Amino acid sequence: SADALLGDPPVRTGRGRATGKVILLGEHSVVYGHPAIALPITSISARAEATTTTQASRVDSALFHGLLSSAPDRLRPTVTAVRAALGTDDPALGGVHVRIDSDIPSERGVGSSAAVAAAVVSAVSQARGRTLTPDERFDLVQDAERAAHGSPSGLDARAVCASGPIWFRRGTVEHISVGAPLHLVVADSGVRGRTREAVESVRALKQSSPAVFDHAISALSALTTRARIQISDGDVEGLGTTMDDAHRHLGVLGVGDRALDHLATAARAAGAPGAKLTGGGRGGCILALAHDPDHAAELVARLRTAGAPAAWTTHMEIA
Ligand code: MEV
Repeated sequence: SADALLGDPPVRTGRGRATGKVILLGEHSVVYGHPAIALPITSISARAEATTTTQASRVDSALFHGLLSSAPDRLRPTVTAVRAALGTDDPALGGVHVRIDSDIPSERGVGSSAAVAAAVVSAVSQARGRTLTPDERFDLVQDAERAAHGSPSGLDARAVCASGPIWFRRGTVEHISVGAPLHLVVADSGVRGRTREAVESVRALKQSSPAVFDHAISALSALTTRARIQISDGDVEGLGTTMDDAHRHLGVLGVGDRALDHLATAARAAGAPGAKLTGGGRGGCILALAHDPDHAAELVARLRTAGAPAAWTTHMEIA
């Protein structure tokens, strides 16, 4: 009968997934309108599953289990992502039960907040029967990133939504040409990196020492452009030198850290053509270049021995 059809609405489930990301060149200078190159870390990801419910929305993750409305502050980006994807607070529409599972470490500059948001946004939209265009998805992830980092450039949100390496400048994305496969290792220093604080400290340097700031930012911008050509030419040795130079200039900007220097030095001692801090800095991760997959595996082992609690390989294919 018609009455039987007017019971609880059907339960719908949506799923989402996004990988971690690493910045090859251009962190910090990207905030001032210069280009950056980023790529996915294919071996780590955040996954979310959302199920519609007639009750209030709730979240289950490693950080928090409970009602969305009582989530702690550190879950603010996730809460923002769920609300943005729901698109409404109308309680008559019911809520969603979101389960999040991630092997991306947080506060390490490898895109955890953006990846969790991207996975959540996809899962919740799908559960609500809504299909997002790539730009709509990016916009919702970027809303969540603002809740996490203040005024992010959009690089992280674009990178975790991309399937390969990207060239990012002033909000727009281009694919880049890769002339030879590149093998990379990302190693965690074990020190928390606070992107918001790092970005604010660079802004303070711009005020207090404009000449130092200008010189470092222009140098980082030029190195990013050089790296794009080296990637396209398959010039691994040249790209390594570019990465080493960028690491030094990021240090001048004040976002370096002893643990990062230690790991970058260990990578070079193990034969890496280059190594640099990646992401916000002041902790977080380093990125090292390897010659081939075997060398990448060796670098992972050497960096673990040098004190990295975790290290991952990723790569760029010829494209
Ligand atoms: C953080 O992953 C990258 C920074 O350039 C900040 C940003 O782009 O918003 C440090």
